[in-house]
Amino acid sequence: MSFASTLYKEGKTALAVPSLDEPKMIPAFFNPRGKFVRDISIVCYSAYSSEKRAKGSDLTFADSLAGTGARGIRVANEVTLVDRVFLNDINSRALEFAKKSAELNELEDKCVFSHSEVCSFLTSRIQNEGERFDFVDVDPFGTPSDYIDSALRSVKDGGMLSLTATDSALLCGVYPKVALRKYLGLSLRTDYCHEVGMRLLFGLASQMAMRLETGIEPIFCHHDMHYFRVYLSIKVGNSHSKENEKKIGFILHCFGCGYRSIISRDQFFSLRQDSRMGKRNYSDDMQPGSLPLICPNCGKGSPEKGGRLGIGGPLWIGRIQSPEFLSRCREISKESLFAEELDLPLYYDLTSIHLKKGTSMPKITAVLEKLKSLGFLASRTHLNPNALRTDAKMEVLQKAVLELAR
Ligand SMILES: C[S@@+](CC[C@H](N)C(=O)[O-])C[C@H]1O[C@@H](n2cnc3c(N)ncnc32)[C@H](O)[C@@H]1O
Ligand SMILES: [Zn+2]
Repeated sequence: MSFASTLYKEGKTALAVPSLDEPKMIPAFFNPRGKFVRDISIVCYSAYSSEKRAKGSDLTFADSLAGTGARGIRVANEVTLVDRVFLNDINSRALEFAKKSAELNELEDKCVFSHSEVCSFLTSRIQNEGERFDFVDVDPFGTPSDYIDSALRSVKDGGMLSLTATDSALLCGVYPKVALRKYLGLSLRTDYCHEVGMRLLFGLASQMAMRLETGIEPIFCHHDMHYFRVYLSIKVGNSHSKENEKKIGFILHCFGCGYRSIISRDQFFSLRQDSRMGKRNYSDDMQPGSLPLICPNCGKGSPEKGGRLGIGGPLWIGRIQSPEFLSRCREISKESLFAEELDLPLYYDLTSIHLKKGTSMPKITAVLEKLKSLGFLASRTHLNPNALRTDAKMEVLQKAVLELAR
């Protein structure tokens, strides 16, 4: 190899990585802080492959933007049920490190290297052999939206696609119109913006898949530092795309009182028609991302009294995790991310609740207990350590927090 490399151990795998002594001279990408997200992905691929292998046939994994191969080589070494790993990158220097790591772990027979543009790599096997991959990972700098079409085409029916997005500002509502362009849906800057980001990612995958008479099923997602990571299974067939259609909708959010709700696409279009027909107040100063709908909580039907509703979406409004998949992950790992959450969309971040002067926020466990004692469902969410999911109305939650605050 023509570059200085350092030996690095991650999980059970030895990796040859660029020497990080001189950051400006680094010939290829490697981020040691990505260990946690790669650890989680090893659990996810192991859990999914055990289910897939039960159905027979060899399993293939495509690390389509492999960099120095940290994820792909770890999959080859640690996900024992995967038979072949394809590692691709446009940077030939990155691939030199990946090849060296394959040698270090005696995985040369299991790994196939390719130096191509990602979309041509992903679709090349379809052109040549009509073959698709069981697993495809897309881990770009920034957004995966540039590659989503090829990625969806390259996964087998019943296979898994995993996507990373690091453009948090778009997904978290700082640039809603750019999110519309990249993710086909407006983002929203709210206390539950990480969930909005996940739903936009699933929404993009679903809306792109529908065109191909294919559906998706979200099985897991998590957020850490600046990245969003989603895992989904691919279901080929028009019945799946039709089912997915019902899972695309919108979020209505009041920036006055924090009211939030989810509506289907059909409900959304009937609201718009009502507005046009003059059944609702309609003003000329429409902001991007907001329709002239009045908050049912604080507006009481009058725009002067209350907040106007902001709109997020179109995005995925169905489940964002699979309980069966999470239970298989828990058999492999004790990581708290795999704890099951209630399927109640749009969590509440307790730190966004205004407390009386001189009081401080109660412990989240105390709030959960209080809500449960009142007969409501309540659970934490790993998308935000200060947040919870509940079927209690917002006023009930606020009252519980204020009562417990000291
Ligand atoms: C974030 S890094 C991948 C990190 C890697 N998955 C890991 O876990 O260490 C993104 C990689 O995409 C590669 N890349 C960027 N654009 C590409 C393209 N159009 N086709 C193929 N590779 C590309 C870069 O060279 C870089 O190595
Ligand atoms: Zn309101």
